[in-house]
Amino acid sequence: MDILRRGNGVGILFFLSLSLDCYCDFIKFGPCLFGWNITCPDPHIKFYLFTRKNQYNPQEITPSENKILQSNFNRQFINKVIFHGYNGDMNLTQLLEMKDGYLKTGDFNVWMIDWSVVAAGPCYPVVVGNLNYVGTCVAQMLDIILNATLVPKDKAFHLIGFSMGAHVAAYTANHLRPYKLPRITGLDPALPLFTTSNKDAKLDKTDANFVDVLHTDALIEGKAERCGHIDFYMNGGMEQPGCWNGNILDCFQCNHVRAPAYFAESITSKVGFWGWPCKGFWHYIVKKCKPQTPTTLMGENVDYNSTGYYIVHTAAKSPYAIGRNYIVLTENQLLVRRLSSSNDVEIITYPKNKYIENLKNNSYFPEFENESGKT
Ligand SMILES: *[C@@H]1O[C@H](CO)[C@@H](O)[C@H](O)[C@H]1NC(C)=O
Ligand SMILES: *[C@@H]1O[C@H](CO)[C@@H](O)[C@H](O)[C@H]1NC(C)=O
Ligand SMILES: *[C@@H]1O[C@H](CO)[C@@H](O)[C@H](O)[C@H]1NC(C)=O
Ligand SMILES: *[C@@H]1O[C@H](CO)[C@@H](O)[C@H](O)[C@H]1NC(C)=O
Ligand SMILES: *[C@@H]1O[C@H](CO)[C@@H](O)[C@H](O)[C@H]1NC(C)=O
Ligand SMILES: *[C@@H]1O[C@H](CO)[C@@H](O)[C@H](O)[C@H]1NC(C)=O
Repeated sequence: MDILRRGNGVGILFFLSLSLDCYCDFIKFGPCLFGWNITCPDPHIKFYLFTRKNQYNPQEITPSENKILQSNFNRQFINKVIFHGYNGDMNLTQLLEMKDGYLKTGDFNVWMIDWSVVAAGPCYPVVVGNLNYVGTCVAQMLDIILNATLVPKDKAFHLIGFSMGAHVAAYTANHLRPYKLPRITGLDPALPLFTTSNKDAKLDKTDANFVDVLHTDALIEGKAERCGHIDFYMNGGMEQPGCWNGNILDCFQCNHVRAPAYFAESITSKVGFWGWPCKGFWHYIVKKCKPQTPTTLMGENVDYNSTGYYIVHTAAKSPYAIGRNYIVLTENQLLVRRLSSSNDVEIITYPKNKYIENLKNNSYFPEFENESGKT
């Protein structure tokens, strides 16, 4: 039974004075819907399936094995599960690009979780309070899919969560135990209220066999601390090139949505996003993380054996990937890969001075401008 007056602050008072014998499942104040005593399946959490047969016309599927088997779901395909974030929905352009990237490159069941009704702004703390129950309901669905799929359990799923959606993926993992998800990708996992030390209340590397994370707006909307087996700090992780337009809020938002934009591009990119190791966030800030080997690929085709802290540079506008344009061969020789107009990879060997000159001309590596003076 749904209770409560809508659209006013009285709801908050009501919430505080709510007694335990309240017989209800949602508490509503203003646009904020707080899930209280929810039983799954909950109609507010919707599951949309996209396949190559219906790339643009999702099938909404309720959590039942029959419904799944009657849909375009293919038991042989890996399931990509995409979560939107706070105050968003699954139609965010960058998330749709991700879905299209997958269906362009392979046969997948792409699931988009729509939890927008209980993720609405400006109710940040309320939405945080909903994550556990959203994760419970998603886990119920994944359990049913797990029973229906023929893909081995250690390959059946890849969860991809943007912003607060990364933590929904983590809560989903909690409710699937003892089953362990093969992979979770966190795209700029949300920061506020997640600076907790309780591992169950945020994404961390115990949530899946492999957790890869992109950071694009650290300290503002995203987290600065590492939270995966491998963490990629895009352009250092705090601000993205091409995002500054004079408005600070637009800039934060632009930085934040670059995470799904880069990841979506990584699915189809021929040249790839390559990162190099760095000791940590502050090392980069104080310019101690110059490009070096070994490089590793970021994104969909990440090497599951790689772990640690990596820096990736990108272009300021799409296409963002600039390929692996530096490999140190010897002290005087560097292998440089550049994008040619055909979007392919070009391999050039430079003596060191020439390489520095090239970097100096290359806006992707502004920090080299001063180093050229030393060589
Ligand atoms: C929770 O919901 C169940 C039925 O769905 C009901 O029996 C129970 O009384 C509810 N509890 C509270 C505290 O509202
Ligand atoms: C997303 O877009 C589809 C149409 O493409 C629409 O049916 C659906 O309601 C939208 N979802 C949300 C949460 O706005
Ligand atoms: C799991 O799948 C089998 C065969 O497909 C079916 O008979 C069984 O009812 C399913 N179990 C659950 C819990 O969905
Ligand atoms: C990762 O490691 C495993 C075992 O250590 C190895 O078999 C596999 O080839 C490695 N994968 C890559 C991409 O290096
Ligand atoms: C760098 O730019 C200068 C002047 O624009 C040009 O003369 C030089 O050839 C460029 N170097 C490389 C390696 O592209
Ligand atoms: C290079 O270093 C000098 C002095 O350390 C500084 O004034 C200058 O702004 C730097 N140039 C760039 C492009 O960072």
